[in-house]
Amino acid sequence: MQQPWWKESVVYQIYPRSFCDSNGDGVGDLRGIISKLDYLHALGIDVVWLSPVYKSPNDDNGYDISDYQDIMDEFGTLADWDELLAGLHARGIKLVMDLVVNHTSDEHRWFVEARQSKDNPYRDYYIWRPGREGHEPNNWESHFSGSAWQLDEATGEYYLHLFSRKQPDLNWENPQVRAEVFQMMRWWLDKGIDGFRMDVINMISKAPGLPDAPAVPGQRYVYGGQHFLYGPRLLEFLHEMKREALAGYDVLTVGETPGIGPQQASELTDPEKGVLSMVFQFEHMGLDGGASKWEQRPWSLVELKQVMTRWQQGLEGRGWNSVYLNNHDHPRALSRFGDDGVYRVQSAKLLATLTHLLQGTPYIYQGEEIGMTNVSFPAIDDYRDIETLNAYREMVTERGIAPEAALASLRVKSRDNARTPVQWDASPNAGFTSGQPWIQVNSNYLTINASQALADPDSIFYYYRRLIDLRKANPVIVYGRYELLLAEHPQLYAFTRTLDDDRLLVLLNFSAGPLALELPAGLSLAGSELLIGNYPAEGAEAASLRPYEARVYRLR
Ligand code: NOJ
Repeated sequence: MQQPWWKESVVYQIYPRSFCDSNGDGVGDLRGIISKLDYLHALGIDVVWLSPVYKSPNDDNGYDISDYQDIMDEFGTLADWDELLAGLHARGIKLVMDLVVNHTSDEHRWFVEARQSKDNPYRDYYIWRPGREGHEPNNWESHFSGSAWQLDEATGEYYLHLFSRKQPDLNWENPQVRAEVFQMMRWWLDKGIDGFRMDVINMISKAPGLPDAPAVPGQRYVYGGQHFLYGPRLLEFLHEMKREALAGYDVLTVGETPGIGPQQASELTDPEKGVLSMVFQFEHMGLDGGASKWEQRPWSLVELKQVMTRWQQGLEGRGWNSVYLNNHDHPRALSRFGDDGVYRVQSAKLLATLTHLLQGTPYIYQGEEIGMTNVSFPAIDDYRDIETLNAYREMVTERGIAPEAALASLRVKSRDNARTPVQWDASPNAGFTSGQPWIQVNSNYLTINASQALADPDSIFYYYRRLIDLRKANPVIVYGRYELLLAEHPQLYAFTRTLDDDRLLVLLNFSAGPLALELPAGLSLAGSELLIGNYPAEGAEAASLRPYEARVYRLR
């Protein structure tokens, strides 16, 4: 059977605001990306996913869109975008655009109209409700703190916003909304793009009646996920999208789907009956959080293995995984799951080995390929992200948490960790901009930067390149069945991948110490071939793994 191209691809995510600035205004832009196309080509990736570049007032850095069919002024023009697409395609790289249609900006023409009056033809494009005894229509909490409802003084009703109040939710129950979205999608597809990453796409169908979330003592607003994370009409809407917008185009679609499990994911990504190529699941992103992501707890390897294994097995033969450890919404994977100190290089390569050897399509987030780390901003004024700023305000003013403690938690979890500018070289501002960057550059850019990585044959960058080449040469890496070994081992992540009689063994030492290698009965390295490792091959025979050592063998 002919397999879809996106299973064999590696995707690279660009967060344009922080990638590369060509005109010195301190904000990354399309021409900046164009200037780095050879860099991307050298890395060997197949697809670029571009975070939103559409017109936006930037309340949430482009995830609040005011015009879906035009480019944000700071990023350039549609002509620049055409050039970017052509430049990618000329290098054999595909382009996946971000599709943010759970909500628009409140500055989108539809919402500007909708708030004019209750009988405006666009009113029903959004979700309006009268107040309940002078309060919000229900108790749902926004993802960015506070109520998910905003009172519109002029018309006396509230509108729903699951994210910021400048991101009103679209009313997908309205067929006209769906028709507009599908038409816009076809407009981009006809320009020649290769797919969509669909922002919180599992939230577009809300439970009828918008019921309250079960109360939580001491909390005025409560997360209402059970009423919108896999709503009753979700599959119907996405089937309609498949028919009306996507049919006839050979594209990659990846749904961002927080809060769903493997069963639902396989429903969404089933090769025949499904609606999407793959989804981003979030279970592993929650392993070091508490009731909220800001509450910290140490993550454990045993749990990480359980979660990854549940997804690997849950989708085997039923759907398709996307594999990632970080993106623009999460801390740097290296600081979170690896060691951003002494073993920075080794642990970055170990994490890369994991994401590239699991079954599914691997995603690399900009800067990951050079081992960028979390940033340690001294003050709240250094942060830019709306989620972070709102959470800090709530922690300090409403929950009485000491500012230093709140800041400590931001340093670990803020999305801004992933949004500091890409470190290109050791020149001022890491070569990201000749002006004042919109967010500070991480001070470690003098040693951690792309120019250094390109000059060092043993760099993290070239290790990614080798992993990508390995994947291309070995179908077992793409299609092989996954099997976990030594599930309870607290430091070793070991698994096999098997396709017909080809069998790989992946060994990952998730610790800063040496680890004696005791393979389960029946497995032996005798006669095996070491395909890749993050230490010099000499010494790989030894019966112990070095700190953060990763090895992949082809077993005999
Ligand atoms: C998920 C996006 O990845 C995130 O950056 C954004 O804030 C929310 N969806 C809202 O669009």
